Amino acid sequence: MLSLQISKRRALRAFSNMQPAESQEPLLNKFYGNEWRELDSSNERLRLIASFDREIDLVELEQLCDAVGWCRRPQRRVRTALENSLLVIGLWRHDKRFPRLIGFARCTGDGVLDATIWDLAIHPLYQRSGLGKGLMLVLLERLRDMEVEKITLFADAQAVRFYLAQGWDLEPQGNRCVFWYAR
Ligand SMILES: CC(C)(COP(=O)(O)OP(=O)(O)OC[C@H]1O[C@@H](n2cnc3c(N)ncnc32)[C@H](O)[C@@H]1OP(=O)(O)O)[C@@H](O)C(=O)NCCC(=O)NCCS
Repeated sequence: MLSLQISKRRALRAFSNMQPAESQEPLLNKFYGNEWRELDSSNERLRLIASFDREIDLVELEQLCDAVGWCRRPQRRVRTALENSLLVIGLWRHDKRFPRLIGFARCTGDGVLDATIWDLAIHPLYQRSGLGKGLMLVLLERLRDMEVEKITLFADAQAVRFYLAQGWDLEPQGNRCVFWYAR
């Protein structure tokens, strides 16, 4: 696991290419609340909606984590982790009857100075289509609006290049990060 960080300036620059928020649609507001963003989809019949407002179904989240190969965590503890997070964002494949959760990330922090992103996952069926990057940009935009100054994350080794390509820096000298694990 490696530690990465991104400065407010870089996070801001990452946004210069983003389209403004979609005009709001009442039906989507009903599903996803007032704070949703549509991510680009290669299939025009497929609508992919990122939202901070729609409640995350813990069973669906567990299925998503299973799909990307993460160890299971007790649902009761996951629920508390989500409740205690600063931001929780889901990405749904929109469907009028049953939107499917296909992406997720959350962020902890004090809301002004520091934030740490956790658990970014895109379902394998939807990977390599720009959705991980898109979901991250929506999250960074919100953190930028909160004027958070420093954002960090701990990346799995196989995902480090994904973050580096988006302007994240490996922590300086690779020796300032320490971990403590409960045993
Ligand atoms: C890592 C992850 C979130 C990336 O999501 P994704 O939707 O597949 O990524 P994107 O399609 O947005 O990729 C954006 C760019 O990064 C590249 N990329 C994606 N995954 C990469 C990886 N693992 N290593 C290097 N580059 C990667 C893509 O090729 C793309 O490059 P481009 O902009 O030049 O075309 C996704 O693979 C995933 O959920 N993995 C399993 C869980 C995980 O490891 N999460 C990260 C925990 S730290």
